[in-house]
Formats: sequence, structure tokens, C-alpha cells
Amino acid sequence: MTKTVNVAIMGIGTVGGGTYEILTENREFMLRTQGIDFRVKKVLDKDLERIRSFGIPESAAASSVDEIAADKDISIVVETMGGVEPAKTFIEKVLLSGKSVVTANKELVSKHWPALEAAAKKGGAGLYFEASCVGGVPIIRALQEGLQANHINSIVGIINGTTNYILTKMTEEGMGYHDALKEAQQLGYAEFNPTADVEGFDAAYKLSILASLAFHTCVPYQTIYREGITKISKADIKTGLELGYRIKLLAIGKRRGDVIEARVHPTFVPASHPLAGVGGSFNAVYVNGDFVDDLMFYGRGAGARPTGSAIVSDVVYAAKAAAPLYSDFVNDGKVADGIEITGDFSSKYYLAVSVKDVPGVLAAVAGVFAKHNVGIESVSQRSGGSGAVIVFLTHTALESDVKASVTDIEQLDDTNKVESLIRVLA
Ligand code: HSE
Repeated sequence: MTKTVNVAIMGIGTVGGGTYEILTENREFMLRTQGIDFRVKKVLDKDLERIRSFGIPESAAASSVDEIAADKDISIVVETMGGVEPAKTFIEKVLLSGKSVVTANKELVSKHWPALEAAAKKGGAGLYFEASCVGGVPIIRALQEGLQANHINSIVGIINGTTNYILTKMTEEGMGYHDALKEAQQLGYAEFNPTADVEGFDAAYKLSILASLAFHTCVPYQTIYREGITKISKADIKTGLELGYRIKLLAIGKRRGDVIEARVHPTFVPASHPLAGVGGSFNAVYVNGDFVDDLMFYGRGAGARPTGSAIVSDVVYAAKAAAPLYSDFVNDGKVADGIEITGDFSSKYYLAVSVKDVPGVLAAVAGVFAKHNVGIESVSQRSGGSGAVIVFLTHTALESDVKASVTDIEQLDDTNKVESLIRVLA
């Protein structure tokens, strides 16, 4: 038994185009394997030229979202416009008209998931967003449908390809941040305004979605500690390598009982850890569940074809599902009663402190750490400017204790400043 499913695509840029290509190139294949004939009936984009460039007939160009919402033949709408508005208004409109929506829009889902889900429920429609996190890697389906038997203890991921590309270039070729960024922009990884990627917003949006699904409770993106990669220096990378670490922008979510940690920041990853080998624009997510133990998902986190693959997998899911799949927690965008999302996590730390090269300065800094219960694992020194830079690796310590140490260290007579503070994956 085969059936025909009509699809609309809103936004025919890179990812929308990739989606169109898969649906047309693999149409016969999906008819044979899935028993469904997917047809792209309408495409909405203000740029007609772009529509034509994908070989889409002009007759398929929709004049407005209302035309799509009113089309009774269309049951699934793909949103690949990006940004919050008008995507949110358009999605709500089609959901309320009873059409399931498949979106790649992590910013929108992380900021407005409750409103979108409410519209989906009201319209009796599905809301799917596999493509919003980690591109072609089916991490959302794994969390929702492969790992339900587990309490997920942690998810630790490289979930932004642009920053991973930049950090890889800095690590492997000794490039400075600005040169590596420029190259990432030339290759089309980083946008002209790279803030969302390099300041960690993109990773925080994705972590908010992944952590909420993994921990079965809202982890609002505003509660996520976020630090980008713009301050990472060549010296940090070099010293890290000497100490056996590779630097990665990690998104970390952990749950212990009712306490959740959610943070995005540059991290020294031991060279022996599987995440250390994830280079270039690739993404990976390392998951630990109480029964399944460790798992790693690896693949392309962006690009027309990988992201299109995730979108079409949701399209197939939406076409086949007996009932829409909604979140399995109270999805009101708030931290649930009884749950604490803590900013005072514990970690190991790398600190580079520039000092006057005088007797007693090391003891003075060590004294501050001791006062704040921060144990030192190792100390080394590198020359730096007119003085020296002392590099400390700490034992596992509380973030608040390390921050208090930084404040006190900077007030010592013979220190200049704490040049770098980088958390270390234990
Ligand atoms: N800007 C994102 C990245 C694209 O670099 O990973 C995919 O979400």
C-alpha cells in the first residue's frame, strides 16, 4: 500500500534546498522503502530566483504562508527559514491548521518550544526538530526513542562545527583566532557576523534542547552558563598540547538527582578522550546513561545534505506516526519545581597567571588557592612579556571557589592578572 504525502518547504536556502534535493532525488527510493510518495507541492521564499535555482517549477511557488496553511492536500511543512520571526508566526499558523511541522531552527525551538508545542497540540499536529541539533546525527531520535530506558547522567558534546573548525585550525596549524575565523568565513562555515557561533549561543540553544530531552525537564537556554572561544590564545593551545590536552568548545549537561548542570565553554579535553579526536567542522556527542553506559554519536553537524537528511527523517516520521510525539515533561519553559540548575558546578581547571618573576610569588598564589579549597595538581612556568606566566592545573574544585581565587590572586602585590581560565574535562 503506497500513499502520497504532499510537503511544503518554507525557506529555500542552503538547508531548504538540500531538503528539496533529497525529496526529489530519493523519491523513488523512499516510495520503495517507505511506501510513501513524497511530493514537494509548494515552496515559500521571497526570492523567486532562489526557487528557480533548484529547478523548482514556478507553479510551486506559494505567495504566502496562508496559501500553504489553507492547502488541504499539504500535511507536512518544513521550515528552513531560520531566525525567530517570521518563522515563529508562520509555524504557528500551519500547526494550527493541522499540518505537522519539521524545523531545523534551534534558536526558535530553544526560545519558544512551549508556544510551538501548544500550537501543535491545539492543531492536532506534530512538531519535529531532529535537524535543529547536530545536523545529520540522529541524536534527538536517540534520546527520545533509543535511550528511554536510561536515566541519562550526562551529555558532553562538540555541537558547533564553526568553532570546532576554528579551534582545530588553531591547534593543528598554529593559527591565531582571527586568521582561523577568517578562513572559516571564507569556507562558508562562519557567518559574516560570527557572534552566534563564536560566543557559544548556537551551542547553548542546542544544549537547551538536548538537555531538556535527556533530563526530561525544561533546561531553559537562559540558565545555561555560556562562554565563547574569542579569548583563546595561541599560548593556551600550545601549553594545553604540552600538558596532553586539546581544546574544544564543549556543551555539557549533567544530572545528579534533582541538580542539573548545563554549560557551554572552551574546555581542555584529554588527548585520549574520544572527543579530542573530533576535528574540523565535525560534531560529536558523548552520552552516558545508567544502563547503556557510554555512547558516542559522531557526524556532520551542518550543511545542506546532512541537515536535509535529518529533516527528511522527520518528514518520514511525521508521515508514518500514528500520533504526534510531544515532549514527555511539563514544557512550560520554566525550571520545574524541585529542580535546581546550578552554575556552581565542579571541574578541574587550567589557570595561567601572569606575575612578576620574583621570589615568593608562587607561594602567594598557592596560598590563595589553599584558602579557597582549590587543590593544585601541577604547576609549570612559561616566560611571558616582562615577567612570567605560571600555569596551574587544579584538582576538581567548585567553580565559585576558583572564581573567588581569581579575584584574590589578581589583588596580590606581585601578580598582574589571570590571563586564562579554562575548564578541564576530567
Ligand atoms: N552554525 C552552526 C555550526 C550550524 O557551526 O555548527 C549548524 O547548526
